[in-house]
Amino acid sequence: MLPAALTSLLVSLLSLLPDSLNVEAVSPLLPTLSFELRHLHAVSPGAHVVFADVPQQAVILEENSHALQTRTIRTYKPPSFALYAQARAQSMRFGQSLLQDFPWEEEEITGPDVEDRVTLLELGKMSNNAYVESNDTAWYELGEEWTVSYPFGWEPDADGFRGHVFATPDNSTVVLALKGTSSGLLGGGGPTAKKDKLNDNLLFSCCCARVDWTWTTVCGCYRGGWKCNADCVEEALIEDSLFYPIGINLYNNLTYMYPSSDIWVIGHSLGGALASLLGATFGAPVVAFEAPGEKMAAGRLHLPSPPSTQHITHVYHTADPIAMGTCNGVLSSCALAGYAMESRCHLGLSIVYDTVSNLSWSVDVRTHGIVNVIEKVLSIPWLPAVEEGREVPEAHEEEDCVECYSWEYGDF
Ligand SMILES: *[C@@H]1O[C@H](CO)[C@@H](O)[C@H](O)[C@H]1NC(C)=O
Ligand SMILES: *[C@@H]1O[C@H](CO)[C@@H](O)[C@H](O)[C@H]1NC(C)=O
Ligand SMILES: *[C@@H]1O[C@H](CO)[C@@H](O)[C@H](O)[C@H]1NC(C)=O
Ligand SMILES: *[C@@H]1O[C@H](CO)[C@@H](O)[C@H](O)[C@H]1NC(C)=O
Repeated sequence: MLPAALTSLLVSLLSLLPDSLNVEAVSPLLPTLSFELRHLHAVSPGAHVVFADVPQQAVILEENSHALQTRTIRTYKPPSFALYAQARAQSMRFGQSLLQDFPWEEEEITGPDVEDRVTLLELGKMSNNAYVESNDTAWYELGEEWTVSYPFGWEPDADGFRGHVFATPDNSTVVLALKGTSSGLLGGGGPTAKKDKLNDNLLFSCCCARVDWTWTTVCGCYRGGWKCNADCVEEALIEDSLFYPIGINLYNNLTYMYPSSDIWVIGHSLGGALASLLGATFGAPVVAFEAPGEKMAAGRLHLPSPPSTQHITHVYHTADPIAMGTCNGVLSSCALAGYAMESRCHLGLSIVYDTVSNLSWSVDVRTHGIVNVIEKVLSIPWLPAVEEGREVPEAHEEEDCVECYSWEYGDF
């Protein structure tokens, strides 16, 4: 037994230790940020982005509030969106090479700490729900004195694009959450399924969703055999797919509402892929869940590519055929439901949970849903990571990823 005085001296010395000796603890701690639900966003039948403010009583509900840990990340932003759009237009006309010397501005910014499990879990929840009955909210378009009391964007056959906006109480950081595909094959379908399907097939298939001769393709670029007209695919994407342009409008509208805020973009599935494309465009931190490979779409859309896309983090698991790019072939569950989800390479870094090996899950499109990921992957410690002293699997770049290897692209 130690004398009481000595014990208390030891205790007080020990309590000093972490602060005085640990170098990590001396560096400034990055704050935890609390976000509350502020707005819903949707697309009107005229393809305009509209917002609705969340009623005050819904803002203070606990399920609409999320605490996230942060960390510093490096990102690249275009000097202006106009310059970016100009570079993109030139690239479409004269080829990719002009994109090499785009004047990206390097910046250190505060982003979500994607090594923290609870932060990923909260981001997953934010990508998913925050569902608020929109009956009693008024939708409005920015810049016009225009409101409607009918909640379009939520009705059947409306454009398939909507989600939520969260902000910290001081508005310093804003999170834009994008809704995923309401695919029929995951049960339900929902009001936006039809529009989502066209977009999915344009963005994530090798050649206009030509799976075999029984398929109605979504663009006319198939040239027989395994040949596909490359320019044709790009043109179809640029002309027919509203997703990227609407995402751009949404982001620009949000920076108009919150001119001095940091904006993060998150989403699930198709929403995650779009979040990534917006992050690659504006240099905003991104966390995308179970997104299909969007790297090919970024190329086909001629997005100028920044020196690094490490501010984009993908989170997915190996039993999800949509994120893995294995939901293809005539007999796949995707094809049976009318989707050609053939792309597999992701931008940025990927945190991959090997649920096939470690949880003995079979590859099944029903594991794709965000609720499944929240409840079965993120809400419990991931043991293989814990064994390595981490909370989540290490993020890696997807090296040597090849798209659509059986297809030949050219000017046929
Ligand atoms: C918001 O986006 C719309 C397109 O949906 C655009 O016409 C409008 O100028 C934008 N408003 C602002 C204030 O950025
Ligand atoms: C909102 O509208 C839906 C159907 O349009 C209805 O089922 C629901 O009860 C309404 N909710 C409120 C709070 O009025
Ligand atoms: C934050 O932005 C909202 C608009 O969504 C505004 O009403 C509010 O006053 C702002 N709060 C602060 C602290 O700037
Ligand atoms: C999953 O990972 C943990 C920790 O590495 C390990 O103990 C367990 O046996 C693994 N389960 C399977 C089925 O491989």
